[in-house]
Amino acid sequence: MQAFLKNSTPKAPAAAPNHWEQRYDAQNSDKSGEGEVCVRFLSCADIPSLLELEQKKWTDDQRADAAMLASRIAAFPDLSVGAFCPRTGSAQASLFMKPTRHDHIRQYPTWADCARKQHGDESTRTGALFGISLSSVDPKAANAIFEFFWPYALKHGWSDVYLGSPVPGLRGWLSKNPDISVVQYVRSKRQGLPLDPQLRYYFKKGFRKIVAIRDNYFPHEPSLDVGVLILGKVPLSGLSFIWKRVPLPWLQRMKKLFFLCL
Ligand SMILES: CC(C)(COP(=O)(O)OP(=O)(O)OC[C@H]1O[C@@H](n2cnc3c(N)ncnc32)[C@H](O)[C@@H]1OP(=O)(O)O)[C@@H](O)C(=O)NCCC(=O)NCCS
Repeated sequence: MQAFLKNSTPKAPAAAPNHWEQRYDAQNSDKSGEGEVCVRFLSCADIPSLLELEQKKWTDDQRADAAMLASRIAAFPDLSVGAFCPRTGSAQASLFMKPTRHDHIRQYPTWADCARKQHGDESTRTGALFGISLSSVDPKAANAIFEFFWPYALKHGWSDVYLGSPVPGLRGWLSKNPDISVVQYVRSKRQGLPLDPQLRYYFKKGFRKIVAIRDNYFPHEPSLDVGVLILGKVPLSGLSFIWKRVPLPWLQRMKKLFFLCL
C-alpha cells in the first residue's frame, strides 16, 4: 500500500518534536503488555529503521522510500505510529494513516488516489481515517500499535478507519475454481470468517465491512492487483461525546478493553 505522495514534493523532515510529541511527552510512548515492544508516534529519525521494515515486507514496486515515509510523518505525525524492539531499536511494525472523507474515499479507484494527500486533509473533521500502510514482522507489535492508537483515536473523535486490503488468496483460489467470480471469493466465508487470509486477519481486528472491490487497485500479484476497501469502527467510538471529555491517561488505562469490544 505504498507510493504515498509520489506525485507531490516531500516536505522537509520535521527537525523539532511535533505538537503531539510536545503535548504528550510523558504519554506518547508505551510498552506493550509483555514489555517486548515500545510503541510511539514516529519521527523522521525513525526512517532508517522503517526502511528496513519496508524492505522485509514489501516488494520493489510496493514499498515506500525515504521521501515517502518523511512525507507521511511530516503530513500527519499524530497518525504515524511505530512499534520498536526496545533492545535493538529495530522497527517491528508501522502504521500510517491520514484523515479522509467518506464520500471521497469511497469513490477513489486506486490505493494511490486514496493515499495521496488532498487539499483540506488537515482540516477534515469527518471522524474518518484512511490506513495508508500497515507493515509488521511481529503480530504482538501490530496489536500493540492498535492498542496504542485507539485511546488517541477516541480522544480526537476518530471513529471510522478505512483500509485497502490485498486479497492474497485470490490468484490461487481462482486457478482452482475458475467459475467463481472475484466478488464471490471476496465475500466467501468459512466458519463465519472471510476465506481470504488477509481479509480474515483484518476481520479479527474489527475491519468487517466490505465497502468496495477494486481492480487495478495496487500492484500485488497474488491478489491479481485487486484491492478491497474495508471499514473498521474504532472500538467504543459510539460514545465519542464522552471520550472527548475523558483525560487521555484514563483512556490509555482502558486499552485492554478495546480488543474485547471488537
Ligand atoms: C499484514 C501484516 C501487517 C500482518 O502482520 P502481523 O500482525 O505481524 O501478522 P502475520 O504476518 O503473522 O499474519 C497474521 C495472520 O494473518 C495472515 N495473513 C496476513 N496477511 C497475509 C498475507 N498477505 N498472506 C497470507 N496470510 C496473511 C497470516 O497467514 C497469519 O495467519 P496465522 O495467524 O494463521 O498464521 C504483515 O503480514 C505485513 O506486513 N504484510 C505485508 C504488508 C501488507 O500486506 N500490509 C497490509 C496491507 S493493507
